[in-house]
Amino acid sequence: MKKYVLLFIVSISIFFKGFAEEGMWLPQLLQSLNEKEMKRMGMKINASDIYNISKGSLKDAIVSFGGFCTAEVISDKGLLLTNHHCGFDAIQTHSSVQNNYIRDGFWAYNTGQELKNPGLFATFIIRIDDVTKAVLGGVSSSLPEKERQSLIDKNIAALKTMTKKESYQDILIRSFFEANKYYLFITETYNDVRMVGAPPSSIGNFGKDTDNWMWPRHTGDFSMFRIYADKNNKPAAYSPDNVPYKPKRSLNISLDGVKEGDFTMVFGFPGRTNEYLHSSAIEQTVNVSDPAKIGIRTKALNVIDGFMRKDEEIGIQYAKKYASISNAWKKWQGEILGLTKSNAVTKRKELEANFEKIVMSKPELNVAYMGLLKDLEKVYKDIEPYAYARDYYSEIFPKIELLMFANQLKGVVNAFEKNGEAGYNLAKEKVVERLEDQYKDYSAAVDEKLFSVLMEMYVKDQKDEYSSAYFKNLLKDNGGDYAKTASSVYKQSKIYCMKDLQALLSGNAKDVCDAIKKDIGYQIAMDMQETFTNNVSESLNGYQATINQLQRLYMQAQMDVFTKKAFYPDANSTLRVTYGNAKTFQPRDGVKYDLHTYMEGVMEKYKPGDYEFDLPQKLIDLYNKKDFGRWGVKGKQPVCFIAANHTTGGNSGSPALDAYGNLVGLNFDRAWEGTMSDINYDPSICRNIMVDIRYVMFIVEKYAGAKNLIAEMKFVSKAGVKK
Ligand code: ARG
Ligand code: GLU
Repeated sequence: MKKYVLLFIVSISIFFKGFAEEGMWLPQLLQSLNEKEMKRMGMKINASDIYNISKGSLKDAIVSFGGFCTAEVISDKGLLLTNHHCGFDAIQTHSSVQNNYIRDGFWAYNTGQELKNPGLFATFIIRIDDVTKAVLGGVSSSLPEKERQSLIDKNIAALKTMTKKESYQDILIRSFFEANKYYLFITETYNDVRMVGAPPSSIGNFGKDTDNWMWPRHTGDFSMFRIYADKNNKPAAYSPDNVPYKPKRSLNISLDGVKEGDFTMVFGFPGRTNEYLHSSAIEQTVNVSDPAKIGIRTKALNVIDGFMRKDEEIGIQYAKKYASISNAWKKWQGEILGLTKSNAVTKRKELEANFEKIVMSKPELNVAYMGLLKDLEKVYKDIEPYAYARDYYSEIFPKIELLMFANQLKGVVNAFEKNGEAGYNLAKEKVVERLEDQYKDYSAAVDEKLFSVLMEMYVKDQKDEYSSAYFKNLLKDNGGDYAKTASSVYKQSKIYCMKDLQALLSGNAKDVCDAIKKDIGYQIAMDMQETFTNNVSESLNGYQATINQLQRLYMQAQMDVFTKKAFYPDANSTLRVTYGNAKTFQPRDGVKYDLHTYMEGVMEKYKPGDYEFDLPQKLIDLYNKKDFGRWGVKGKQPVCFIAANHTTGGNSGSPALDAYGNLVGLNFDRAWEGTMSDINYDPSICRNIMVDIRYVMFIVEKYAGAKNLIAEMKFVSKAGVKK
């Protein structure tokens, strides 16, 4: 690889003339970068109302929910609103065949009825500071990658010890713009988060996977939690003595809704985007990576679905697993469609040609970035077979839980080998506790079938050297029959049920570890891991490091070359604001999508007894009586709406705010035609989907009768007047 001399011609050129809709912006930079445009697009508040470190601002009402979703505080008693699918883990954990909260919903009519959720947390962002100078101190472009990273790590460690914070706060330092910039976050994490309410899945996940990623949508995808604090309002582990948290700021709820063209913004924790890739990376996504992953998941879903439909218990146990496998599976299909339809590769190639032209025209750019695109293209080609093997391994291994159980037992064996008896005992206790929990949502019959179907793909679809020789020997012993091999493995293995495991784990540490190592499931898992490590990982990691380095340069290069373009950092699970307008769109020729859906549409989709489209009788009765209370509009009940806000996974549960910063909706999805926005945002077909806040309130008040919750919240009209 050619050595690149990094030029800081314009140091990160984020002072541009912005353009609308695309972008996940840093809240602390809104004032300098976005405020003017936001106001031009209709915002009526100031950037300092959104992010302010000296007084309560909107950011103080936003939390990272468990690290995977967003939630917002909607009362001065720490009431949290998030999606049903974000709270689903908690809902499922508290559910049983007798108390089926998944099916029937759950409502706490006083705080005493709220349910604790070990492991669940809510994190506030207290402040965000640019620490690029300190983190990159002493880093020069001639420094080899390894030394560069260790210097950065050292700088970060030093920065962490130097930064002042309260004892109950944490420090987080993250890289942005492909590691060209660094920001420091002071955070406060609350670990006592209790479940307050959830509608039945027939409302909260109405339409399930058929409707997932789709517009028009009719799902009431919300659930409610509450943050508890110690008596000083500070973070504390769960205790019955904890009290509801008193927030610096909670969101007011608007009853006005939005109409076409209204300003909306979404405030939350988007997970991961890749907006600045080389065209060959996009090509690989469309032609290789997405199709491979889709293929594997199609088979896995067919297996699980077959069992779920026949058996109610498996239906509960596998609901979450099914939904999460199906979620990305469907998104990737939309992504291929969108990238193809929007000619993303061709457009990216045009951008690259333009890039080259500008680079050629300026000597200093030429010195810095000549040949960069060619190098990127080459390394993406080089990594392709290894990336494919990685996709196969990382898709298949975790879907066979037997292998995942083995992987956890490896922790016990390792602990013994490293720390002897004491380490062993500690690790064993933890692993047994975790496995006991996982066995509750486990069916060996489902797993065996998954094993048989997925191991066949694992062996047949990739180069021989990438799959486990140990497994292929077993297969040979069973006449090449995958089902027979699976059956023999599950007959012999002792690591997927508590009774067998207990027997396996009794005795002295050394004997136990020997026995674990002899288990057939364990051996398959270990050999798969080793095969991957030996034959794939090293090359994969090598190429990946080169890609990271080149993409870092390319990011800087794009900013140096396209000095007038708006640059925002890729999503990385940090707090962002995205803004745009409520907007209809045309996904296909001759088809136009409306802004809102209404309960009429819920009723149109209603299929009695159906797994996805059934409805609770009480909701139907409310609809028939048109009993919408103050949440309806002219005899109709709004349900969901769309807008052009640039969101991604992690933005689930994020508030949709209107021009005044009032809560109008709850973000939960994107329209299928535009799921490629993670790679290539196109305002003509990218839309986020929100539940209308009035539907949420209708369900809470009219359906659940949780007047206690309604009484906590503050409702306003556009001018901020209390209603
Ligand atoms: N597509 C949404 C997201 O990415 C919702 C997923 C949950 N709903 C479902 N039917 N699987 O998280
Ligand atoms: N449902 C997604 C989530 O869980 C949000 C939809 C998206 O990817 O935009 O975060």
